[in-house]
Amino acid sequence: MSERRLSESGFPIKPTYGPADAPDGLPERLGEPGRFPYTRGVYPTMYTSRPWTMRQYAGFGTATESNARYHQLLRAGTMGLSVAFDLPTQMGYDSDDPIAHGEVGKVGVAIDSIEDMRLLFDGIPLDQVSTSMTINAPGSVLLLLYQLVAEEAGVLGSALKGTIQNDILKEYIARGTYIFPPKPSLRLVADTFGYCRTEVPKWNTISISGYHMAEAGASPVQEIAFTLANGLDYVRAALAAGLAVDDFAPRLSFFFVARTTLLEEVAKFRAARRIWARLMRDEFGAKDPKSWMLRFHTQTAGVQLTAQQPEVNLVRVAVQGLGAVLGGTQSLHTNSFDEAIALPTEKAARLALRTQQVLAYETDLTATVDPFAGSYVVEAMTDEIESGVLALMDRVFEYGSSVDAIEAGFQKREIETSAYRIAQEIDSGERVVVGVNRFTVDEEEPYEPLRVDPTIEAAQAERLAKLRASRDASAVERALADLRAAASGTENVLPPMKEALRARATIGEVCGTLRQVWGTYRPTDRF
Ligand code: 3HC
Repeated sequence: MSERRLSESGFPIKPTYGPADAPDGLPERLGEPGRFPYTRGVYPTMYTSRPWTMRQYAGFGTATESNARYHQLLRAGTMGLSVAFDLPTQMGYDSDDPIAHGEVGKVGVAIDSIEDMRLLFDGIPLDQVSTSMTINAPGSVLLLLYQLVAEEAGVLGSALKGTIQNDILKEYIARGTYIFPPKPSLRLVADTFGYCRTEVPKWNTISISGYHMAEAGASPVQEIAFTLANGLDYVRAALAAGLAVDDFAPRLSFFFVARTTLLEEVAKFRAARRIWARLMRDEFGAKDPKSWMLRFHTQTAGVQLTAQQPEVNLVRVAVQGLGAVLGGTQSLHTNSFDEAIALPTEKAARLALRTQQVLAYETDLTATVDPFAGSYVVEAMTDEIESGVLALMDRVFEYGSSVDAIEAGFQKREIETSAYRIAQEIDSGERVVVGVNRFTVDEEEPYEPLRVDPTIEAAQAERLAKLRASRDASAVERALADLRAAASGTENVLPPMKEALRARATIGEVCGTLRQVWGTYRPTDRF
C-alpha cells in the first residue's frame, strides 16, 4: 500500500477516496458556477464562452526594449499585457539616483517619467488591451502615468482596463518593495480606490497577492489565509475612508501561485472563492454580487523551476498551468523554462505562451465548467483547506488586524517555518525535485541566457538630464507643493499627483515628496 502522504498544507492525503469522504449535503453546498458562493467559478459559463486571459509577465531594460517584447507577445497571441518594472521604479527612485546603481532595467523595465511611459506603450491600443502592472508602493503613480498616456491618445479613463498590484501588505511580509509605513500606505490604497471609482471605473485597483508569500515558502493554507486577511485590512481601510463596500469591492482582484501539486491547488482556489464570497456578503454586507466574486490571476510557481535540466520545467509549468485552469483562474502567466537561469529568451517566452494555447485550444478543458466538481478527493480537500484557512485567519486577527500581525512578525515567522521544512525535505530527498536530488545527469548542457544591456543605466540618466533641462521647473515645483499639501492633509492625493506627472515630474520626485511627508517603513520584526 502506498504510504499516506501529507499534502502541502499538512493534512494527510488518503490513497483512496470514496463516497464517505464527500462532504455532507454536497449538491446544496456546492451551488452553481457563477452563483454564490462561487466554489465552481465566478462566471456561469467560465471558459465555455471565453478562455482565461493569457497574460505573460514581461519587461526588462529600456521602455523601447520592453515595448518590442510586448509587440512580440501580442503577435504570438497573448491576450493581455503584464508589465514587470525594475526595482528602482518599484521603490520610487529615479534611474539616476545613486541608490538605483546596478539595478536599472535589470528585473524589469526602467520607467522614470511620462516620456518613458509613452515609449513603453508605443503602438499599443490602450482602449483594446488590458494591462496589468506589477507595482505596489508607487502603484498609483504608474496608474496615473498610464492614464496620462492614454489621454494623449484620446482614450478616456472610462475605457481603460487593467490592474495595478498595489498590494503593500504582502510587501511587508514577503517581497520587500515597500516605501511608506503601513498607515499612509493604506491611505494611499484607499485614495486609489476612491479615484478609480470615478476616473477609471473598469480598473482593477489592487491584486491582493498570495504568490510571493507562496514563493517564500507559504503552504496553500497559509497563502490563502494571509492573502484574504490582507484583503480584509484593505476593505476595512476603504470603509474607514468613507467608501461604501459596493463602490470598491467589485474591482478588488487577487493573485495566487499554481504549484505542481495539482489536486490540492485546484481545491485551494475553490476554497478561496467560497471563503471570500461569504466574508464579503455576510461580514461586510456587500449587496452587489460582483463584490462577492474572488477573481484572480495565477502565475506558475517560479520557486519550483530548476536550473538543472531546464527543459524539465516545461513539464512542470504545463502541470501547474493545468491546475490553475482546473481551479478556475481568470488570468494566467506560465513561467518560461529558463527563468531559473536568467530573464527568458524570446523563444522560451513563446514556449510558455504556447503551453497555455495547448491547454486552451487542444484539450477539452474549455468544454465544461469546474470538471472536478463532485470529485471525492477535490471536494474533501476543498473542505480541508477551507477549515485550515479560517482557523489561520482567526490566529492573524487575534493580533487585531493583519497589519498588527505583520508588525509582530507573525506571518513572516509562519512562512519561514514552512520554508525551512521544505528545504529540509529536499535536502533529505523526502521531497523529490527531478534533476536536482533524483534523476540527475552527470553533465549539464550549457545554456545561453538573455543578457540585459549594461549601458542602460547611463542612457536612462542622460534621458533624465534632458527631461529636467527641458521641462518648466517652476510648474513642477508648484505641482509637487500641491501634492505635499494634499499628503499632509486628508484630500485624495491622486489628482495633484496626476498634475505633477503631467508637468513631467519624475517618479522619484513624486515618491520623494511623499517620503518627506509620510516617512519610510522600517521593519519592526527582528530575527
Ligand atoms: N462570462 C461572462 N463574462 C466574462 C467571462 C465569462 N465566462 N469571462 C470573462 N468575462 C468578462 C469579465 O467580466 C470581464 O469584464 P469586465 O472587465 O467588464 O468585468 C472581461 O470579460 C475580462 O475578464 P476578466 O476580468 O475575468 O479577465 P482579466 O484578465 O481582464 O482580469 C483579473 C483578470 C484577475 C480580474 C485582473 O485583475 C488581472 O488581469 N490580474 C492580472 C494580475 C497580474 O498579471 N499580475 C502579475 C504579477 S507578476 C508578479 O507579481 C510576480 C513577480 O513579482 C515575480
